Amino acid sequence: MTTSTAPLSQDELKTLVGQAAVRYVTPGDIVGVGTGSTVNKFIDALAPIKDQIKGAVSSSVASTERLKALGITVFDANEVESLSVYIDGADEIDGKGYMVKGGGAALTREKIVAAMAERFVCIADASKLVDALGTFPLPVEVIPMAAQQIARRFAALGGTATLRLKDGQPLVTDNGQHILDVRGLRVADPLAFESDVNQWPGVVTVGVFAHQKASICLLGTAEGVKTIN
Ligand code: 5RP
Repeated sequence: MTTSTAPLSQDELKTLVGQAAVRYVTPGDIVGVGTGSTVNKFIDALAPIKDQIKGAVSSSVASTERLKALGITVFDANEVESLSVYIDGADEIDGKGYMVKGGGAALTREKIVAAMAERFVCIADASKLVDALGTFPLPVEVIPMAAQQIARRFAALGGTATLRLKDGQPLVTDNGQHILDVRGLRVADPLAFESDVNQWPGVVTVGVFAHQKASICLLGTAEGVKTIN
């Protein structure tokens, strides 16, 4: 007789890596917490050990609300000097730990909290692992008055930038700004690309995380959680 098990769904893979990330939390810590559906699994897994941590620094209003609803103290980033670990998802991650992030529009605060942390633990299902960044539309948070000027600069690089909408209106981030999603770009040199685009007037944050790359990635696969260093 043969037995077969159904492959794990994407949601189940997210749960696996969310739970696996708890191993990287040290008792007594303030934990850096990212944003998104994978991080929500991590927050849920953090709840049973909430009394062993001091609290969290959060990268979005959405994560803050979820943490607080579970009784986890959320500190303002200005109250905390450094974090031992920041745990967050990604829209794309390559073999070097370079990422595209911002699908949930939280990229600016994500980069700020990541910069406070000694270690960035990326949690992702296997669909996020890529050979080279550039398939997922690149999120860029922009000052609204600069949006078209920035879109023209991406067009000159061969990309097509569109303003992200919510309910038919420009999406407004937690920081009161807008998001451009850029399709058709190849990001051959993530470090240089991030540095370059960050200099453009009106760019708040580009969603390439190369200077704040993942230190380690917990990847949810059909064979279980794989750790990529
Ligand atoms: C939010 C992000 C998220 O980390 C990214 O979009 C992945 O989200 P999910 O875990 O829901 O797939 O960058 O701004």
